[in-house]
Amino acid sequence: MNFYILTLFPEMVSSGLHTSIIGRAVSRELLSIRTINIRDYAFNRHQSVDDYPYGGGAGMLMQAEPVYLAYEAAAEEIRSRRPEAEMEKKPRVVYLSPQGKTFSQRMAEELAEEEDLIFLCGHYEGIDERVLEEIVTDQVSIGDYVLTGGELPAMVMVDTISRLVPGVLHNDISAESESFQENLLEYPQYSRPEVWHGKRVPEVLLSGHHANIQKWKRQQSILRTRERRPDLLEQCSLTEEERAWLKKS
Ligand code: ADE
Repeated sequence: MNFYILTLFPEMVSSGLHTSIIGRAVSRELLSIRTINIRDYAFNRHQSVDDYPYGGGAGMLMQAEPVYLAYEAAAEEIRSRRPEAEMEKKPRVVYLSPQGKTFSQRMAEELAEEEDLIFLCGHYEGIDERVLEEIVTDQVSIGDYVLTGGELPAMVMVDTISRLVPGVLHNDISAESESFQENLLEYPQYSRPEVWHGKRVPEVLLSGHHANIQKWKRQQSILRTRERRPDLLEQCSLTEEERAWLKKS
């Protein structure tokens, strides 16, 4: 999977994404993360990429042309790697914006199917609408709050999507059996020692009885979801037996 990140702050994105699990996946060439500095495509002496908005208003806007040229650089690289039959296909371009559709695990799963993804990070008061109309395929928000730029949201998305790419996590099972799988939250987990600050690890986990342990984990997930995210519980498929048990619990 190849990520291209169009940004005014490439070092922020690079340093954040070339560490830990994602950094290791890049070294193993399971992923590539390329940052493209929009400022490199400035077309004036001062290398400025922003200007006042027509009609007035607060702050500055990122101009269309440098953004478009940065996009073209990424798109050209993608085209050069694609087989001829697919060269006409436009790459998916995600613009990070509080006006976008809210990011979710489901959206990450869908985006993880792509071979190439371009992320466009805005700054100042936004980007000239005309270039957005021309290149952006998806506008995505990471939540109902406003950040100073799109870099952190792009990093959140790249991290979430990357860990779904086969081989990125040590075992692919851990991506499957965790929070949001089947819309259930993860059960509580414990490691050594058996007693810490007077608190004992639940007895069933020490029993070695595999079926009982599995049942306990599932029940804990269900209880936790009801307590913390009742909105998710409505969307998950419980058996009749589980529903009856939950009513009594
Ligand atoms: N840019 C600024 N705030 C944002 C948000 N919440 N999500 C995505 N991009 C943003």
